[in-house]
Amino acid sequence: MTPSYANRRDIRQLGINPHCWYVVSSSQEVTSSPVGVILWNQPIVLFRDTQGKINALEDRCPHRQVKLSHGKAIGDEIECTYHGWRFNGGGDCVYVPYLQENQKPPKCGIKTYPVRELYGFIWIFIGEEKPDNEPLEIPEWEHLNYIATVATIHTQAHYSFLVENLMDMYHGHLHQNWQAWTEAQLDYITETDNKVDAYYEAQSYYKIDKIWSISQLFFRSLRQLHPERLTVSYIYPHWYSTLGEDFKIYCLLCPISVSETRAYLIHFTSLNAFWRLHKLPIKFRKFIKNRLFGCAKKMLDGLVAEDVKMIEEEQRAYQNHPQRRGYELNKAIASVQRVMKKQAIAN
Ligand code: FES
Ligand SMILES: [Fe+2]
Repeated sequence: MTPSYANRRDIRQLGINPHCWYVVSSSQEVTSSPVGVILWNQPIVLFRDTQGKINALEDRCPHRQVKLSHGKAIGDEIECTYHGWRFNGGGDCVYVPYLQENQKPPKCGIKTYPVRELYGFIWIFIGEEKPDNEPLEIPEWEHLNYIATVATIHTQAHYSFLVENLMDMYHGHLHQNWQAWTEAQLDYITETDNKVDAYYEAQSYYKIDKIWSISQLFFRSLRQLHPERLTVSYIYPHWYSTLGEDFKIYCLLCPISVSETRAYLIHFTSLNAFWRLHKLPIKFRKFIKNRLFGCAKKMLDGLVAEDVKMIEEEQRAYQNHPQRRGYELNKAIASVQRVMKKQAIAN
């Protein structure tokens, strides 16, 4: 996992800081059947026990090295599909269907990972030591004033290309039809060892302050450009952005390998301005929140498709000509590159 000396100089070969919580799946994706995921080259199987609790084990049967994720959950255990050996949530082999009288299940435990189910996602920690930090907080997930939409990004590219794309608001040029803002101008940046905040000034198309303003989401002619603060933050290893008071977006990363990255975008539209709405019964507000879940899906998927195309082209160009360097004018990119390097190399 530690990058070689040569790799340390090349951001596109950079490893990750394993001492962080990464998102490997949405909650919905893990049902009663085991699910195989990969986090930085480590295959992991997720399965729910009878209480609905998620277990995360190495996705490898120690008997013949096949994937446990091909098997099924039996009660609180996972059963390998090949010969039916079973493993508990602690990774111990607890049952072999053909043990002879004098035999016991072998002591061939497999690795387990700290796992949390929070904000509709499954978070995994692959660091060697016990976690000493918490997953990124997403208070809007449960808050009744925020309407969520989730989109998945799956790209054949190193995670640094995605992070740089997310921090570089000048690429709004690419999203003519989908972006909620235009004319971004970088104002200033703050940087620490694990965080970069970039503050842009932009022109927003939307102002979600009256009930009728929701119709701006559907009718272009109702949109009026007005200045808004646009912030983007790299909170290693994840990303967060705000556009004025109306929109917030998170991007939760799952680097799969040096040339493949998965991530989840969560877009929140704020209903904070609608004070009358907040006086309604909680049950009704919950109904609205759930009913409107996913309302920005078309827009998010449109943005993702355009970004993925560019990111993958950057990755291919890098693979064809690793020595070639681009010309970067946005200072936020140099900042996030420093943080990515610091985090990956120090760990
Ligand atoms: S390979 Fe898993 S039980 Fe044999
Ligand atoms: Fe984009």
